[in-house]
Amino acid sequence: MQRTLVILKPDAVERGLVGEILARLEAKGLRFERLELRQLDKDTVRRHYAEHEGKPFYDGLVGFLTRGPVVVAAVTGPGDAVGAVRALMGATDPAVAAPGTIRGDLAMLIDENLIHGSDSPGAAARELALFFPDHQ
Ligand code: GTP
Ligand code: MG
Repeated sequence: MQRTLVILKPDAVERGLVGEILARLEAKGLRFERLELRQLDKDTVRRHYAEHEGKPFYDGLVGFLTRGPVVVAAVTGPGDAVGAVRALMGATDPAVAAPGTIRGDLAMLIDENLIHGSDSPGAAARELALFFPDHQ
């Protein structure tokens, strides 16, 4: 059993794709321990994406993640839940993400790529503590 953090980004909410994306995660066998529509503040997003601070896309990324509500979820599943979410998401750039993946099927642009998933168990623990501090 493993846990990971998923964020459905503002473009997913704006485009009405929340149900479609959550259905893909559920159908895979993943489950939601926490699931919440939330307006993020810039400080939280900066901390979440701290590894990218200083990169040319960082400010735009922070602006994008705060432009409207997101869906944040603590996701669990048997086996490698972190890897399962990453596989369903597809490559960072939707232009090259494989068909069949969320980004490959539903997105066009690298800076509006619908979904975040933690990229390792260590990142998942850090990110879950940031977004769900009361969740054991
Ligand atoms: P997240 O799940 O959102 O963390 O995506 P990721 O793990 O697939 O990619 P990464 O952590 O490397 O980058 C975080 C986000 O920054 C991506 O989802 C993109 O929106 C954005 N990003 C990454 N690289 C680039 C880039 O080269 N150009 C632009 N414009 N945006 C980028
Ligand atoms: Mg990442």
